[in-house]
Amino acid sequence: MHVVETVAEARAAVRQAVRPLGLVPTMGYLHEGHLSLVRRAREESATLAATIFVNPTQFGPTEDYATYPRNLERDLGLLREAGVDLVFAPTVEEMYPPGYDTYVTIGSVAERLEGAARPGHFRGVATVVAKLFNLLQPDRAYFGQKDAQQVVVIRKLVADLNLTVEVVALPIVREPDGLALSSRNVYLSPPERQAALVLWHSLQTVEARFRAGERDAEQLRGAMRAVLAAEPLAEVDYVSVADAATLDELSRVDRPTLVSLAVRIGRTRLIDNFVLGVEG
Ligand code: PAJ
Repeated sequence: MHVVETVAEARAAVRQAVRPLGLVPTMGYLHEGHLSLVRRAREESATLAATIFVNPTQFGPTEDYATYPRNLERDLGLLREAGVDLVFAPTVEEMYPPGYDTYVTIGSVAERLEGAARPGHFRGVATVVAKLFNLLQPDRAYFGQKDAQQVVVIRKLVADLNLTVEVVALPIVREPDGLALSSRNVYLSPPERQAALVLWHSLQTVEARFRAGERDAEQLRGAMRAVLAAEPLAEVDYVSVADAATLDELSRVDRPTLVSLAVRIGRTRLIDNFVLGVEG
């Protein structure tokens, strides 16, 4: 496995890469969710690249950039075991040298949900992903449905800027009890870890109501809020029942629908989602 830190070394490695080249972008502190992307990408790529970069531009000023968990040595071991060929793990100065001043701003799909709750978040995501796509020239790039809106935003980036990469979205990997894997789960104390199950329980409640025939989106949002309200450690940021493609809030569930939520458990902000009629 070739590990590089600079743009010049990454470009040199990519020039020699046998195609198709698969790319798995990450912020590191890898878990089974990331590794599920790596394994699928390994099967479909002649050359497999991964990136590890905690991207400062996608964190707000009051967010957890400084304390975001990091463990490069462990991550490199996991990627090596998974058969990754090339790892690009740049420094912040390499990606954003002094005077860096260009950003990619995506419109309406990036403005709601996470975009509304975390102003500037998707500008940072779209900017770094556009840079990684340019640098590494992947044929395919793999993303998790855990960050469902991020997938929609990146598909929009690719479509609107005429990029040639194929975006592949893969299912959410969960703990046996339903909690979606996240690097941020390490922040949870034992009682918070227990309380965090309320996200999954609220999604399961919506799915059960949907299967029982409920199609009124506000009824479904209400059902989620009721489950969340019963957990004293949970503070709801948003619940959403939206068109899976446009992310417009729905009044009736009559098309592929993304049910999503963001909840604070203590100081940790968690997100989760479920696509009605597709998963489960
Ligand atoms: P990060 O949070 O490290 O996630 C990297 C990839 O792993 C993302 O595509 C994310 O959706 C996926 N992932 C995380 N948890 C998952 C789970 N439980 N199941 C399946 N996939 C999961 O997302 C980012 O980094 C950054 O925004 C990035 C795209 C790298 C840009 O900086």
